[in-house]
Amino acid sequence: MEGSTTPWIEADLIIKGASEVLTCKADSRDAQGRLNVGRILDGAVAAREGRIVWAGPESALLEEVRLMRGGEMLDVDGRVVMPGLVDCHTHLAWAGDRADEFQLRVAGATYQQVQEAGGGIASTVHATRNATDEVLRAVTRKRLDRFLRYGVTTVEAKSGYGLSMDEELRHLEVYREVAFAHAVDVVPTLLAAHVVPVDYIDRSDDYVKLIVKKIIPAAAKRKLARFCDAFCERGAFTVEQCRQVLEAGLENGLLPKLHADQLSYMGGTEMAAELGAVSVDHLDHVSDAGIAALTTVTGGKRAPVAVLLPGATFFLGEGSYAPARKMLDAGVRVALSTDFNPGSSPTQNLWLMATMGCSQLQMTAEEVIRAITIEAAAALALDDEIGSLEVGKKADILILDYSRGVEVPYRYGMNPVWRVFKDGKRVVKRDSPGEG
Ligand code: NIG
Ligand code: FE
Repeated sequence: MEGSTTPWIEADLIIKGASEVLTCKADSRDAQGRLNVGRILDGAVAAREGRIVWAGPESALLEEVRLMRGGEMLDVDGRVVMPGLVDCHTHLAWAGDRADEFQLRVAGATYQQVQEAGGGIASTVHATRNATDEVLRAVTRKRLDRFLRYGVTTVEAKSGYGLSMDEELRHLEVYREVAFAHAVDVVPTLLAAHVVPVDYIDRSDDYVKLIVKKIIPAAAKRKLARFCDAFCERGAFTVEQCRQVLEAGLENGLLPKLHADQLSYMGGTEMAAELGAVSVDHLDHVSDAGIAALTTVTGGKRAPVAVLLPGATFFLGEGSYAPARKMLDAGVRVALSTDFNPGSSPTQNLWLMATMGCSQLQMTAEEVIRAITIEAAAALALDDEIGSLEVGKKADILILDYSRGVEVPYRYGMNPVWRVFKDGKRVVKRDSPGEG
């Protein structure tokens, strides 16, 4: 406008015509003060050089934003626009499968009985140790391709099927190499403390010593992991052993996460919170003290995010779901993830977890959409970079073939993705959404 002093915001990507833009801003709340998805009706989003530069109602777009020469303007014709999904807990690189084990469980064996009989995680460790680098790279790449088609633009990836110094580092190297050439951002986690390897059976403290003294320092020195995780469970590691592992991680600059209270109550949640863990994951059997610990800020650090994995509870079919409602009502931040792995959750469909969040965990649509975006980003300590459509953040943007955000948990088992933009570039174009 003549005489106007407002400078144009220049963009090389403009997405307009959205029925709803779900910004998923961290602090967005409704009139009652409840966290919500920060919906902009008839909205638009603009980006430049891979970063969001503007988000708002389309009525303000033309006055405030100008498309640079050579830029792309996309009219999404009444679809939903939201941030790229963040899958914050996966076991990505492994070989073989455990389809036969699933049938044993269907016939009555429990997950822990299969594990005690030498199957379970140990069988995947055997198959993965025997897989070449090429095979591991190929399966990892294929899985990242699938995550991207499902709209996941950042994925956390754990080791944990190596269980020796060389193998744990080799699997983390696979993540680094594959991620280097892939659109999906991979956040690596060292999970050497997944179970006790067969060669250390009855000597679990010796294995913990190997992790603490050798594996963690080597992974940290080669910058192969950002987080250090452990599986706190009967048949895996005690609270005290997990504490040693996470403390060693902290000393080496790896941020703590923990698999806690999945199959039984162990008290790992309280310990992890005390150490200032970034997230505590599973929590199907969390105690009231554990929930209270997840609301407590320790040593200036934020309270941990509760990462709930309803897919594992569903697929194991033997336990109760995490008390999400109780946690949310207590003020705990809750994220959802697939827990993609060969034993307890062989799915890559994070949308399905959103549905389970509503149908099994009594979460609202607003809460589950936050749980797979901004809260999941917080579970990776990346919520200043990703997880919401806010100025300055990465232009990781999804366009769904839905007209309302509330359809996300409702149309279950589907893949709603129509387009995916990663760092402002289109990386997925699907013209028949709904298929896997
Ligand atoms: O998160 N809990 C431990 N680890 C995985 C299962 C891994 C497996 O069964 O291979 C989980 O559920
Ligand atoms: Fe897990």
